[in-house]
Amino acid sequence: MTPPRTGRPVRVIQWTTGNIGRRSLHAIIGRDDMELVGVYAHGAAKVGVDAAELAGWPEPTGVTATDDIDALLALRPDACCYNPLWPDIDELTRLLEAGINVCSSAAWITGGKQSPEDLDRIRKACAAGNSTIFGSGAHPGMTNMVGMVLSGACERVDEIRITESVDCSTYESAGTQTAMGFSQDPDTPGLAESVRRESEVFAESAAMMADAIGATLDRITFDVEFSTATGDTDLGFMQIPAGTVAGVYGYHRGWVGDRNVVSVGFNWIMGDHVTPPKPLEHGHVIQVFGLPNMRTVLHCLPPRDWTEPGFMDLGMIYTAMPVTNAVPAVVAAPPGIVTLKDLPPVTGRIG
Ligand SMILES: NC(=O)c1ccc[n+]([C@@H]2O[C@H](COP(=O)([O-])OP(=O)(O)OC[C@H]3O[C@@H](n4cnc5c(N)ncnc54)[C@H](OP(=O)(O)O)[C@@H]3O)[C@@H](O)[C@H]2O)c1
Repeated sequence: MTPPRTGRPVRVIQWTTGNIGRRSLHAIIGRDDMELVGVYAHGAAKVGVDAAELAGWPEPTGVTATDDIDALLALRPDACCYNPLWPDIDELTRLLEAGINVCSSAAWITGGKQSPEDLDRIRKACAAGNSTIFGSGAHPGMTNMVGMVLSGACERVDEIRITESVDCSTYESAGTQTAMGFSQDPDTPGLAESVRRESEVFAESAAMMADAIGATLDRITFDVEFSTATGDTDLGFMQIPAGTVAGVYGYHRGWVGDRNVVSVGFNWIMGDHVTPPKPLEHGHVIQVFGLPNMRTVLHCLPPRDWTEPGFMDLGMIYTAMPVTNAVPAVVAAPPGIVTLKDLPPVTGRIG
């Protein structure tokens, strides 16, 4: 990891403390190369609460959450770990114009899904603030990185294909899951297009991988197949009734002519009564087709000292850390939009 140029800890603010932000905050508090200087809270109930309480850290930090963006900018932090439910271009431009480097898990890899006007605002904000924006996560993020690295073993790459092949029932976000088609009538007009739009950040990650292997894409397409539940499932946070969508299998595919050179997608199920078109692999399947073919499956598993109930938070750490661990490298990166393709390897830190 690139150390900050100044030799002092990187001054970081944490933007929201939901599923992923909470884990990012926990990691920042524990890092000796980062100093937590501020926390942004979207929800009023979190304003004034110590970061330790929000992150489940044992001792108070003395840093309390605020919804006062001007006060956070005035702290002149080096970086912001940005993990809100939805990215907001106004927020991002304010941070970047103020010279704050942004590391995001919120639907950002290349910025390709943004309108040309919004992308231009982001670029101008980076130029004005001499700042950098970067996005990552588990998938997209880590999975693409592993695919790009594996392609380094090939004399010739035909296709990099990444598939998240999991039962999503442990990601308790009814809004996200419904947006991805789950529990909906499979004949809902526009359902495939809505899933494409909601998952478009995967297309950004496909474009990044294409760029890495020297492929100039003509187009990116999306195809999806829905499987329906044969019985009712009550997941607690949402219902998957019989006959509604309980399996979503789809890919964003990048093409050079008639060659599908990059594919990023999912084989997701929810509930007890569904058979997906391809067997689940309970992890991230990374395949590089070429000379030779390379394949691995990433599994996110509990360590021996895992005491929290359930495993959902393991996935949240897996999603948060590729972003938070990138902070020093992003602070050291040139201004503008950078991706995993541009950074030195982002590693974790010894505990
Ligand atoms: N790349 C990946 O692998 C990956 C995987 C999963 C998720 N993600 C992305 O990571 C981001 C965070 O996910 P998450 O599961 O942590 O989300 P979350 O817990 O549902 O929400 C994150 C925070 O956003 C704030 N928030 C809630 N409703 C909001 C609204 N209507 N408008 C603006 N902010 C709102 C809240 O902030 P306060 O806590 O301050 O109230 C909330 O805690 C999302 O953009 C998600 O798509 C990426």
